[in-house]
Amino acid sequence: MRTSTTQVTSAQPMPHGQAVAPVQEPAHSHDLLTRRSLLVSAGTGAGALVLAACSGGGGGSSATGTTGEGGGTSGTAAAPSGTVVTATGDVPVGGAVSVQVDGAPYLVTQPEEGTFEAFSAICTHQGCTVAPGDGELDCPCHGSRFDLSTGDVLAGPAPSPLPRLAVTVSGTDVVTT
Ligand code: FES
Repeated sequence: MRTSTTQVTSAQPMPHGQAVAPVQEPAHSHDLLTRRSLLVSAGTGAGALVLAACSGGGGGSSATGTTGEGGGTSGTAAAPSGTVVTATGDVPVGGAVSVQVDGAPYLVTQPEEGTFEAFSAICTHQGCTVAPGDGELDCPCHGSRFDLSTGDVLAGPAPSPLPRLAVTVSGTDVVTT
């Protein structure tokens, strides 16, 4: 005689499958956010120049005069200073690599050999994770495309550039400043 065992596998009452992940505030995030806010309020052009100077990268025009719903997603491109984000050798020239910094997704790019930039990988449209593309940064959700060296919107519904994370090269590492 066989005994059939009835197993109930859904024994965990989870309210709508809400995943609760511990979020830690980086110590300097407020600092950097404040700095960014100040720069942005000082004028987009000037802010871009100062940010470019901080990262040591070649500047460029970053002001895409498209405004509209500015304050929607405030991508927080911030991490404690000196945080290693990746090794320089892991970033392809003319491409990008996805990394996690302090639990948040970022993209480190190398538009030209020896020039490194980093951006928040959180799409400014609806928050999907942007990925390295072919000579650009692509959002898989609705097709927004971003510039590899500035984070500017090249196409798509994204209303604003990817927030820049200030980085520099230290030895063989790309680190936050
Ligand atoms: Fe990125 Fe919509 S969330 S294009």
